[in-house]
Amino acid sequence: MTQCTHMAPVDRIFSIFQQHGHRHYGENVSELEHALQTAEFAKQSGESDTIVLSCLLHDYGHMLHDLGEEIAQHGVDARHEVIGARLLQDLFPEVILEPIRQHVAAKRYLCWKIPTYAQELSESSRLSLQLQGGPMNDAEAQNFETNPHFAACLKVRRYDDMGKVPGMQTADLESYRGPINRFLLESP
Ligand SMILES: [Fe+2]
Repeated sequence: MTQCTHMAPVDRIFSIFQQHGHRHYGENVSELEHALQTAEFAKQSGESDTIVLSCLLHDYGHMLHDLGEEIAQHGVDARHEVIGARLLQDLFPEVILEPIRQHVAAKRYLCWKIPTYAQELSESSRLSLQLQGGPMNDAEAQNFETNPHFAACLKVRRYDDMGKVPGMQTADLESYRGPINRFLLESP
C-alpha cells in the first residue's frame, strides 16, 4: 500500500483506486467500476453528496488489505468496512463515514427485516454474509435502528447491491474531486 503523505488527500484516495481499483470485485466488475457504479446509482436517484461519497468510498477498505481478491471464497472476512472507515476517519465527517462503517451491518439488518432480501443478493454477497455473521437477530436489529445514520446506511447498502453491472457507463473518478474536496475535514 502506498499512501504518500505529501499528496493532497483527494489525490491519495484516487491513487489507491488507481493502484488497486483493478482488483476483481467478484461479480464481473472491478473495485473501481463497483465504486463508480454505486455512486452513480445514488447520484441518479438524487441523493445528497454525502450519500454519493459514502457510496463511492464504501469499499475503500477492500483495496487496502493484503488478503487477495475474492477472500470470501476462501472463508475470510477482512472486516473491510471497518478498515475503510478507519483509514478515512481523519478526512471525512461521520455522516460519510458511518454508512461506510455500517454497510455490512446494513446487509445483515436487511436480511432480518426483509425475508426475500438475501435471495436478491449477488452470489458473492450471500457467500460473505455467512462470514459476516448472517442475518441480524432481533436485538441487533433493534439496536441498529437507533443509529443516527440508520437511513443513510440502508441507502448506501441498496446502491451497493445495484453497482454490479458489467460494462455500465459511469462518470469517472475525477468527477468526484470537487465533492470530495468540499467535505474534507482538512484543506486539500
Ligand atoms: Fe460494495
